[in-house]
Amino acid sequence: MALQLSPFLISNTMKPLSFKLPPIADRSHGSPKSMSSCLGATQKVENVKKPSIPRQKAHVQVTHSMPPEKIEIFKSLEGWAEKNVLVHLQPVENCWQPQDFLPDAASDGFEEQVRELRERAREVPDDYFVALVGSMITEEALPTYQSVLNTLDGTRDKTASSLTPWAIWTRAWTAEENRHGDLLNKYLYLSGRVDMKRIEKTIQHLIGAGMDPRTENSPYLLFIYTSVQERMTSIAHGNTGRLAKAHGDVKLAQICGTIASDEKRHEAAYTKIMEKLFEIDPDAAVFALADMMRKRITVPSHLMYDGCDDNIFSHYSAVVQRLGIYTAKDYADVLEFLVGRWKVEDLTGLSAERRRAQDYVCGLTPKIRRLQERARERAEEALTIPFSWISDRKVKL
Ligand SMILES: [Fe+2]
Ligand SMILES: [Fe+2]
Repeated sequence: MALQLSPFLISNTMKPLSFKLPPIADRSHGSPKSMSSCLGATQKVENVKKPSIPRQKAHVQVTHSMPPEKIEIFKSLEGWAEKNVLVHLQPVENCWQPQDFLPDAASDGFEEQVRELRERAREVPDDYFVALVGSMITEEALPTYQSVLNTLDGTRDKTASSLTPWAIWTRAWTAEENRHGDLLNKYLYLSGRVDMKRIEKTIQHLIGAGMDPRTENSPYLLFIYTSVQERMTSIAHGNTGRLAKAHGDVKLAQICGTIASDEKRHEAAYTKIMEKLFEIDPDAAVFALADMMRKRITVPSHLMYDGCDDNIFSHYSAVVQRLGIYTAKDYADVLEFLVGRWKVEDLTGLSAERRRAQDYVCGLTPKIRRLQERARERAEEALTIPFSWISDRKVKL
C-alpha cells in the first residue's frame, strides 16, 4: 500500500495537505454509485471477495535501512531509557480501567445506568458518532501497532517477555493503549446508536490489512511517527471530549478527556526519546524527520474497510475534519511544536545533506499553512453519504 496511492492522497485538492487527515474529502470518490453500494448491505452478504489484506497497490517496502552499527546506540541507551522513558508509564494499580466509566453489570443499578447512558447518547448527532466510531476502530487495531514496534532494529521485544527497557515500554504501552479501544467499544455498544456488527467487521478488516508507516525497521523513523501520532491523537480525543460536552454528554466527555491525557503521557515519552537522538546523533535524527515529513504521516488506520465503502477512511476523515476534531491546521501546529521541542533550527555541525534536511523541515510549517488556506478557498459543497457504522444513516462530509 502506498500512502501516495490512498484515495485522499491522489485527490488534487488533497495532495499537499494529506499529512494525517485530509482537510476535505476526495469528492470524486463519494459518487452516488459508490455510496449506493453501502445501502442495504446488512440484508445481503457483503463483498466476500475482498480479503483482509491491503487492497491498495503496494509500493516497494524498504526494510532495515538503519545502518547496523546504530543498533549499538539503542543498546547504549538502555540505562537512560530505564530512567527517562519508563517513568512515563503508570503502575497498573494507579491506572483507570474501562469499568470505572461504564455501568457495572454486576450491580443492581445496571439497567438504570444503561438507560441513562442511552438517554445522554440520544442527544448526540450522527456525525459525531461517525467520528467516535472511527476513533474507536483506530484504537482497536492495537495488535498492528505492537507489531510495528516489534519490527524495529535495536528496540524490538525479541522474546515477548524481554527485560530490556525498550521491550518493557512496548508491552506496557500496548497494555495502556488496550484500555482505550476497550472503553470506547463498550460505550458505543451500550449507546445503541451504532451498528456494532459492521463496526466489528471494519476492525477485523483493519487488523487483517495492517498499516504501512514506511518506517523501515528504524527507531529513528518510527519514534518520529509515534511522537507525531500521540500528540495528534491527544488533540483529537480532547476535541472529541469537548464536542461531547457541548452535546450534553458529560460522561462521554470525561471518557475522551481521560484517554487524551494517556496519549499526552505517551507523547512525552516518544518526544523525549527523539530529543535524546537529536542530542547524540543529530545528523540521523534530522534526516529521519525530513524523511517522515516527505513521506507524509497518516493515521495508522488508513487501511480501514467496512465491507462496502472503498473510501470509508477518506469519508470518515472528512467528517472528522469538518467537525474540527482533527484538522490540517492541527497537523501544522503539531509539526511546529515538535520542530521547536527538538530545537531543530538550532542544530549545528550538520553535514551539507543534513543541513538541507534541516532547512526543509524548518520551512515546512508555513508551507502547510499556505496550502491549507488555498485548499479551503477551493473547497466545494460537501456531499452527504451513508455510513455503515450508523446503520446507513447519512452524514455530511
Ligand atoms: Fe490510544
Ligand atoms: Fe497513546
